[in-house]
Amino acid sequence: MKKSVFRIKENRRIAPLTFLMVLEGDCYGMDRPGQFVNIRMDGLFLRRPISVCDVMDDELTLIYKTVGKGTHAMSEMGSGVELSLLTGLGNGYDLTKSGDAPLLLGGGVGVPPLYILARKLRQEGKEVSVVLGFNSAEEIFFEKEFKDLGCDVTVTTVDGSYGVRGFVTDGMPEHYSYFYTCGPEPMLKAVKKASVTSGQFSFEERMGCGFGACMGCTCRTVTGYKRICKDGPVLEKEEILWED
Ligand SMILES: Cc1cc2nc3c(=O)[nH]c(=O)nc-3n(C[C@H](O)[C@H](O)[C@H](O)COP(=O)(O)OP(=O)(O)OC[C@H]3O[C@@H](n4cnc5c(N)ncnc54)[C@H](O)[C@@H]3O)c2cc1C
Ligand code: FES
Repeated sequence: MKKSVFRIKENRRIAPLTFLMVLEGDCYGMDRPGQFVNIRMDGLFLRRPISVCDVMDDELTLIYKTVGKGTHAMSEMGSGVELSLLTGLGNGYDLTKSGDAPLLLGGGVGVPPLYILARKLRQEGKEVSVVLGFNSAEEIFFEKEFKDLGCDVTVTTVDGSYGVRGFVTDGMPEHYSYFYTCGPEPMLKAVKKASVTSGQFSFEERMGCGFGACMGCTCRTVTGYKRICKDGPVLEKEEILWED
């Protein structure tokens, strides 16, 4: 974990309530897909965790949805504003288990960390399939960006206004070698039920301290409680004991 100051280069709306922010700063130690940063916001006690969507040289891309005070404040920040970030947080996805044809499943703001994952898997020559799930057509983002990486992309919408009607599980292909997923917990549970291979889940749970000290983010596993912030946010299918 490292504390650094980043400067906003770009901050724009890409869908209703959803923003893309590019920050410039020291991106050392952030190249494992599935990691996150923790952002300090003036007037707020707790930092806000946001997944790394992409990292290139000294540029970090984040995608965030405005849900409360912190993310609303972020959406109003212009270029040049400086932010204090804790970087290099989280274990990230293990790419060595992907096999030749991995499947990536993202729901809503669970989509961003899958972008850097897809980019790295494509660099390794993997045949990557992606299912992106949203509520409706207007909420869709990054379909083209995943296609530009050479991924086979399926979009699902709950109201059927675009792509396959239903949830990400309705867009799952029959054959894949392994899966990686990130999204709200009901979606993760549905993916667990529908999946036919091993895989990895990234949890975007509510957090407290964000670095392992408060036990405010625990998940029950076969080896005891794990902290999402410190031992995760990525956990393997076989180790998670899901609560009903
Ligand atoms: C490891 C990790 C990675 C994340 N990555 C992303 C990301 O890439 N993009 C993104 O948009 N969000 C992401 N989140 C969620 C993000 O951290 C929260 O949405 C944010 O902290 C809310 O802050 P706020 O001050 O705007 O809202 P608050 O004022 O704190 O809360 C407003 C409302 O949002 C709800 N809320 C707060 N946190 C969460 C949460 N984690 N999940 C669901 N509901 C929440 C609250 O219950 C409340 O109803 C991630 C969370 C974690 C733990
Ligand atoms: S948020 Fe404090 S231990 Fe995870």
